Amino acid sequence: MPSITYVHTDGSREVLDVPVGTSVMRGAVLNSVDGIVAECGGEMMCATCHVDVDEAYVDRMPAQSDDEKAMLEFTASERKPNSRLSCQLVVTPEMDGLVVYLPESQV
Ligand code: FES
Repeated sequence: MPSITYVHTDGSREVLDVPVGTSVMRGAVLNSVDGIVAECGGEMMCATCHVDVDEAYVDRMPAQSDDEKAMLEFTASERKPNSRLSCQLVVTPEMDGLVVYLPESQV
């Protein structure tokens, strides 16, 4: 099962095993990771699942849809080039070791 590290703004880390086919958002929510709100439950209508993907893994992420790009305009924290909606990141075996950074705020 791929291991994903969620890094909080204070530098603390939560390392979780997230099943293939689950989203990075769902992995966080199911394990009560603070910092992912996911108000819309993954329907791409809230942007409260914003994460910044570690640069080393950006190329392993699925392509952004136009809808995701549009929704990323509404993140509460600064949008960066490596910002993604974690509900759109479906876990694959290639994502093992993925590191994502949680933003200051989601709302
Ligand atoms: S959970 Fe709402 S946009 Fe990702």
